[in-house]
Amino acid sequence: MDILPLTLSGTTARRKSKTLVGPIDLTITKGDFVMVMGPNGSGKTSLLRLMHGLERVRGGAAKFAVDDSLAQSKQSFVFQSPTLLRRTVRENVALPLKLRKQPDTNQVDIWLERIGLTAAADQPARSLSGGEKQKLALARAMITDPQLLFLDEPSASLDGQSTREIEAILTQVHANGTTVVMATHDMGQARRLGQTAVFIVQGEILEHGPMPDFLDHPKSARAGAFIAGDIVE
Ligand SMILES: Nc1ncnc2c1ncn2[C@@H]1O[C@H](COP(=O)(O)OP(=O)(O)OP(=O)(O)O)[C@@H](O)[C@H]1O
Ligand SMILES: [Mg+2]
Repeated sequence: MDILPLTLSGTTARRKSKTLVGPIDLTITKGDFVMVMGPNGSGKTSLLRLMHGLERVRGGAAKFAVDDSLAQSKQSFVFQSPTLLRRTVRENVALPLKLRKQPDTNQVDIWLERIGLTAAADQPARSLSGGEKQKLALARAMITDPQLLFLDEPSASLDGQSTREIEAILTQVHANGTTVVMATHDMGQARRLGQTAVFIVQGEILEHGPMPDFLDHPKSARAGAFIAGDIVE
């Protein structure tokens, strides 16, 4: 059963009286690769957390095509700084299956291979490099075969090689049918991977449309400045 579309209508997330993001009107459709862009503090992380059910809906609504508990079980989130257990690489990748009491029918080995960590499987996960940790977090998010994957700037502090590897895995994940919603600061990455652009400033969507239109013909001066690498507040 498809959990998408996810429809946000006038959706707002707040902490105490502060608005983190919203009101947001946005529909995430099956098969899309959505890039959420915007300056620091504009609400990218908050929007992803809101869609994933980590922030309470404090105004408007956020609805999946199915009930929330089913939708929840078919989506994963990769945080900007992944938290890894004090266990081996293999145990970290296998954890979501264990928590769901699902048998491991070879997926752990397949994912270790995909992320290039087969040889490191029995090392402590905390001994990995930043790029390897991020790949591990991605494998752990994907091992339950989610329909929807959220990523919060997964390659923010990585070098070119690690970023390329993560992008290659994401391209494959998307080609295999997973819908992806990702926050990024990297306009090159947005162009390489994204199909749909969402540009937010001060918690609200300023632009939303096909990626090439956004990058090549931004409608607002602020998006134009942002794409050009100027400082936008
Ligand atoms: N737990 C919190 N309590 C209060 N305010 C918060 C909290 N988390 C975020 N904010 C505020 O909400 C706004 C949006 O923050 P958010 O982290 O979503 O932005 P962002 O676009 O992800 O920024 P960055 O590019 O730095 O990651 C900011 O003004 C931030 O200070
Ligand atoms: Mg953020």
